[in-house]
Amino acid sequence: MKALEMTSDKLIELEVIDLANEGKAVAQFEGKVVFLKGGLPGERVLAEITKNKSRYCEATVRRIITRSKVRIPPRCRHFDTCGGCTWQDLEYPGQLVFKRKHVVDSIERIGGLDKVEVLPIVPSNEVFFYRNKMEFSFHVDESGDFKLGLHHRGKYDEIFNVEQCLLQSPTSNNLVAWFRRYVAENKITVYHVKKHGGYMRFLMIREGKNTAQTMVNIVTNYGEFPEAAKLVGALTGEFPEITTIVHNQNGGKANVASGEIEKVLHGPGYIEERIGGMVFRIRANSFFQTNPRQAEILYKTAFELLKLDPGDRLMDLYCGTGTIGLLASRKVAEVTGVELVGEAIHAARENAALNNINNIIFYQEDVKDFLLKTESDGKGFNIIIVDPPRAGLHPKAIQRLTSLRPEKILYISCNPATFARDAAELVKAGYNLPKVVPVDMFPHTTHVELTGVFYNG
Ligand SMILES: C[S@@+](CC[C@H](N)C(=O)[O-])C[C@H]1O[C@@H](n2cnc3c(N)ncnc32)[C@H](O)[C@@H]1O
Repeated sequence: MKALEMTSDKLIELEVIDLANEGKAVAQFEGKVVFLKGGLPGERVLAEITKNKSRYCEATVRRIITRSKVRIPPRCRHFDTCGGCTWQDLEYPGQLVFKRKHVVDSIERIGGLDKVEVLPIVPSNEVFFYRNKMEFSFHVDESGDFKLGLHHRGKYDEIFNVEQCLLQSPTSNNLVAWFRRYVAENKITVYHVKKHGGYMRFLMIREGKNTAQTMVNIVTNYGEFPEAAKLVGALTGEFPEITTIVHNQNGGKANVASGEIEKVLHGPGYIEERIGGMVFRIRANSFFQTNPRQAEILYKTAFELLKLDPGDRLMDLYCGTGTIGLLASRKVAEVTGVELVGEAIHAARENAALNNINNIIFYQEDVKDFLLKTESDGKGFNIIIVDPPRAGLHPKAIQRLTSLRPEKILYISCNPATFARDAAELVKAGYNLPKVVPVDMFPHTTHVELTGVFYNG
């Protein structure tokens, strides 16, 4: 156990020994594990206990006594306030070490698999301004003042005014400042989450990183945008890079930046992005990878592991807008994509047509139900790709997937813990997993993606 002392002002002195998988620092106090906000391994800190449970404590670092060599000054002025970029005070190579360790730990501890080689993590070429999508919230505080910005760290019902975020682009920051002024000058009301009244809800900005196209999506409560033509004129006059403006109305209580009614105020209503030599159309409410340049690297890494062959028949499960299946389609005989969300399937079909891809078919269905039908029709897919949400694969999906006995299953995951759980089941069903590759898509966050191929027998 690492030593600690209780100081007179109820701060305790701790030595940080590790970083937990969600990014919290770890120390020990009177035989209990302490999860710390702030603190890096090797540092001695003064911390305040915020929760004292029978088996563990939670604490917040109040002062660092000895600093880690990998600690750096955070570049963002909002670092202490903002809920994003929790690791900006850890140098990038250090972030990568902990992300890879998270993958190793999950596979060994959760999956119980000790023979899987975890290759070096693939870093992101860009560590700032890599996102193609940001959602800024309008918010009225207790005093009646309105804010347009991002969530406070640890306070999901508080928003602070963002002056400069380093994740999307300088245009995005200028747009936020512009909208703050426009809404105030034109006395447009702002939505109050608890009272469920007021108009402006979200400002969403989407950018094609490889096409330089910009979408502004304004999400409001019900009702036409007041003097929309005036807004469009002012906005496009100030920002010629804007190629489309969309208005989404969301009158529901769920505070989400999507709309039930959509109206295109300017341009085609979508932007385009180029990945792997193909063009993808992105609409206001459709899913697209948020770090597109790194997504291209993730897919390339996955295809290199898979070693696709022109005779392959491939299933792309949880296909979203079809990006993976479409990119694979030129290398294989045929592809079947499966996805639950209708809008994503619509976009996938649109993207297939846009790129003249004729050997791909998309189905809107729950993966586990689709697999049940596939089981009985005896179609021979020799490769199945799965890219599920964070929750991982449904047990029935695993059982039906493995009973099809594809030669290879490529798993792309955004959650090492559920990947490891599912990997153990796939191995039990007779598949083997020689190696995985972690890929960093989101510098300064604790998230890590990984991919690996399971072989039959
Ligand atoms: C991580 S995203 C994958 C996106 C896509 N592969 C890509 O790279 O753009 C997971 C997708 O699974 C879909 N999904 C979630 N549960 C599903 C289910 N039970 N059946 C089919 N699709 C599902 C989600 O709507 C989402 O589009």
